[in-house]
Amino acid sequence: MTTIAALCRLDDIASPGSKGFSLGSGAAAREIFVVRNARGVFAYQNVCPHTWGPLDWVPDQFLSHDKARILCATHGAVFRIEDGHCLYGPCAGKNLTPVAIEVVDGGIFLAEAVGA
Ligand code: FES
Repeated sequence: MTTIAALCRLDDIASPGSKGFSLGSGAAAREIFVVRNARGVFAYQNVCPHTWGPLDWVPDQFLSHDKARILCATHGAVFRIEDGHCLYGPCAGKNLTPVAIEVVDGGIFLAEAVGA
């Protein structure tokens, strides 16, 4: 069964901007992040396809200085916001893992099951 969990209000994330979330607990715990820009709202697992570590060194900071791309702070990989495709860096050609979300009535909701 799919559970719809509220993440935050759309207005809680600047446009462009980003925000991280910790979901679930125990073995089911995982980290995701949401990016908002003029083209929409996008979510990915906070796992870089280079070393499988998190992308952010500073909480909620997932974007490049110009806020045009997702940036992995560990080794500088740069990803397209709209599809998570790595354009430059040690994992060029690989992709972030997308997370299904929905924007309904000004809220951002997870559109997949959350572990206990
Ligand atoms: S861990 Fe992301 S670029 Fe190396």
